[in-house]
Amino acid sequence: MTRPLWDKGQAEVDAAAQRFCAGDDVVLDRALFVHDLRASRAHVAGLARIGVLPAGEAAALIDGLLELEGLFSAGEFVLDERFEDGHSAIEHWLSERLGDVGRKVHTGRSRNDQVLVAMRLYLRDALATTASHCLDASEACLTRAEQTAMLPLPGYTHLQRAVPSSMGALLAGHAEAFLDDVMIVRGAAAALDSSPLGTAAGYGVNLPLDREGVARELGFSRVQVSPVYAQNSRGKLELLAVSGLHQALLDVRRLAWDLSLFATAEFGFVRLPDAYTTGSSIMPNKRNPDVVELLRALPAVSEGAMIELSSLLSLPSGYHRDLQASKAPTLRAFMRGLEGLGLVPALIGRIEFDAARMRAAITPELYATDRAIELTSAGLPFRDAYRQAALDMHGLADRSPEASLSARVSLGGAGQLGLDRLRARLEQLRR
Ligand code: ARG
Repeated sequence: MTRPLWDKGQAEVDAAAQRFCAGDDVVLDRALFVHDLRASRAHVAGLARIGVLPAGEAAALIDGLLELEGLFSAGEFVLDERFEDGHSAIEHWLSERLGDVGRKVHTGRSRNDQVLVAMRLYLRDALATTASHCLDASEACLTRAEQTAMLPLPGYTHLQRAVPSSMGALLAGHAEAFLDDVMIVRGAAAALDSSPLGTAAGYGVNLPLDREGVARELGFSRVQVSPVYAQNSRGKLELLAVSGLHQALLDVRRLAWDLSLFATAEFGFVRLPDAYTTGSSIMPNKRNPDVVELLRALPAVSEGAMIELSSLLSLPSGYHRDLQASKAPTLRAFMRGLEGLGLVPALIGRIEFDAARMRAAITPELYATDRAIELTSAGLPFRDAYRQAALDMHGLADRSPEASLSARVSLGGAGQLGLDRLRARLEQLRR
């Protein structure tokens, strides 16, 4: 390993202990590296504005940071165990490249605020992607709902056939859920839209840092004022972000459950696209819904991350190395979660429906509720109508699902799904 930033000629740390402290931190920092570089440029520009760095030196550092980003993106600079972490790699590379000027980059900052800002920039991007995937998932559900608004499907309660409904009604439900997720995720993004840079190790520094200017340059809408809170918010804001993602993944899970159930031979209502199914290594007849099942497994990842993060937060104020352990669960949840969430729109777009199977599942007794309600129109109390409908199921076989659906005219019901309202909300959230 290169000499640590904190080397001051003391006895070397035991190699196994050092490996233990580093863990997979430097490898995880690959996901944060471009954000760290970007924040480093903003920090350097801020130092130049207050005259701590001469303009020429700041320009050299900023050019160096841009060059390193280019090398990293091209795979020519590899962030690996040579370095204690990504922050050390940046200072090490700049020092090799620029000599003493490179060794000035850390003036007025700590790795503590450096990692905070890098993670915050990462989460800002990750939450924007989450929201955009949710919008796409909602739109895909909505488009299919428009096509299947009058495609009869039993409505189930307790997994028992209950009343006539439609595939469109089911998909409208999933579409609306993803719209709420967009709002939830954006709420989390608003909470972490603050710049921790300039808080150093958690107590500020004896320089008039241009914290507001740095925050603006990084696109944050405010600074996180208290350096103590900046440190205390580490892990807390990660937890908030992951829980926003988790809400979306819970909705993916329910959708995936519906699809896996309806794709069984027992239901036979949907056929999953070939591109999203796999085969069995032994059973030639099998066609397995692996993609849908692994989508269903996603909330286990985010929930695991939330538990890891919240257990970690049991700490007094200030930085503690424990907080390094907030990185892995956060990154794991977003990397896996977004990979899966991103598949949902195309999957939904390509599902095929078996209209005949769905229709055949609407057996006559499913109209009993319709009849009971019809009987009340002559003034019969509902409870009496209910009993009468329960005792006499005759004649229900003549009814059609279409007539039953069309009669469900209160907003949101199968006869008036309100898809235009959902689309208007979708478009508003896209703006
Ligand atoms: N890798 C460290 C982390 O994620 C960076 C901060 C190190 N700070 C320190 N005081 N050791 O927490």
